[in-house]
Amino acid sequence: MRNSTKIKSLLQSTEFDSDVTIQGWVRTKRSSKSISFIAVNDGSTLDNIQAIVDNVNFDEQTLKNITTGTGVKISGKLTKSQGKGQSVEIHATEIKVFGTTDSKTYPLQKKWHTLEFLRDIAHLRPRTNTFGAILRLRHAMAFAINKYFNDKGFYYIHTPIITGSDAEGAGEMFRVTTLDMKNPPRTKKGDIDYSKDFFGQETNLTVSGQLEAELAALALSEVYTFGPTFRAENSNTSRHLAEFWMVEPEMAFYDIHDDMDLAEDFLKYLVKYALDNCLNDLQFLNKMFDKELIERLESVVKTDFKRISYTEAVDILVNSGHKFEYAVEWGIDLQSEHERYLVEQHFNCPVMLTDYPKDIKAFYMKQNDDGKTVRALDVLFPMIGEIIGGSQREEDLEKLQKRMDEMNIPHEEMWWFLETRKYGSVPHSGFGLGFERLMLFVSGMKNIRDVIPFPRTPNNAKF
Ligand code: 4AD
Ligand code: MG
Repeated sequence: MRNSTKIKSLLQSTEFDSDVTIQGWVRTKRSSKSISFIAVNDGSTLDNIQAIVDNVNFDEQTLKNITTGTGVKISGKLTKSQGKGQSVEIHATEIKVFGTTDSKTYPLQKKWHTLEFLRDIAHLRPRTNTFGAILRLRHAMAFAINKYFNDKGFYYIHTPIITGSDAEGAGEMFRVTTLDMKNPPRTKKGDIDYSKDFFGQETNLTVSGQLEAELAALALSEVYTFGPTFRAENSNTSRHLAEFWMVEPEMAFYDIHDDMDLAEDFLKYLVKYALDNCLNDLQFLNKMFDKELIERLESVVKTDFKRISYTEAVDILVNSGHKFEYAVEWGIDLQSEHERYLVEQHFNCPVMLTDYPKDIKAFYMKQNDDGKTVRALDVLFPMIGEIIGGSQREEDLEKLQKRMDEMNIPHEEMWWFLETRKYGSVPHSGFGLGFERLMLFVSGMKNIRDVIPFPRTPNNAKF
């Protein structure tokens, strides 16, 4: 066990004159002839603790070795701070230098680094105030997600990463294979023979845990998955990753309205959790990146989300007189600019859209009686656009099979999914929250590459 105290708890301590030890990395050092001030951070909080060092008590080399980035252990007496901006400091009696840092080449200098520059040094960016805040916030959101569902009696289901099915039917999957790419086995027809591959069939990285979550929901009633998902879509935008985390609750006996109620309650809970537990980091992000962040978060917690149909939304957009880059007509997949217009210009609050045209949505969504639309749900957020995608599921075996035929999805591949509609099928619903989209919203960052430790995007899988 560690024999030192986390800086976060020391900064709240009032046990003055007690002997304390901290371990962390030097952020800055200021020295005069007789005295040095060393600011140390251990990542437990945004704030540094300051160690006051009487230079005479330490050998010159030790003091010289202490530069920005150096790993140190400092023991001393906790004292009430004289300087402003900090509550306590440490009068150092012992200093151990672990790893020194070549200050000439250390990329993190005490100056403002651009987010683009920090992406290139993603191995060091956790040491910056910005990424410390982001990583703590990410942790808090992941914890809050598990807490929310646990408190509600949902069970966490671990769905597979490697799969043979394409849940969303968009065909944007990464292949998983151990075949020799230079000389793959061939069938008589000349195609690659995947029956010789590792799993004896074609496999991919999953785009969603939904289909397997449905299997569990139809036994445990309320479940969720929370894991990495993969999409090989070549969209180099500030909102898309090739590898992202998705939270997917799936609930038996929920219709689309229950689904919407849960989505709204869940999102409000998460945003409120961030405000209640991460205010220090949020205030920093508010100051540095987005002056309206905290105000926006508070407003989302307070306001009712607007609920309208896709058809109503299209009418609003068409009648808006606004010039969109992509023209709007019934049947199109809404672009981020349309979604943001609805949220930021028209309603000025989060919007939940339902009943999308069936042709732009996945095969599993419950079909409406109009024969044109399905019980889809998208939740649209300010600054983000789509943050949640979900639906009520088609529980009728025949209707589901018919839709699969129309979309050329072979029944054999989905036999296990279809059996749930054959044996004790019940109404059920679910949705998927993109974890990094949530992180974008809660942190106020503008680029999704800046809310995940090691982003995977087209042409980039470094670190
Ligand atoms: O709307 P999507 O594709 O829905 C599904 O995958 C369903 N199976 C979910 C369900 O009903 N269980 O994706 C859900 C969410 C999106 O709303 C978005 O927030 C996020 O996942 N998302 C992405 N986030 C980052 N990068 C990408 N490439 C994303 N694609 C989707
Ligand atoms: Mg979607």
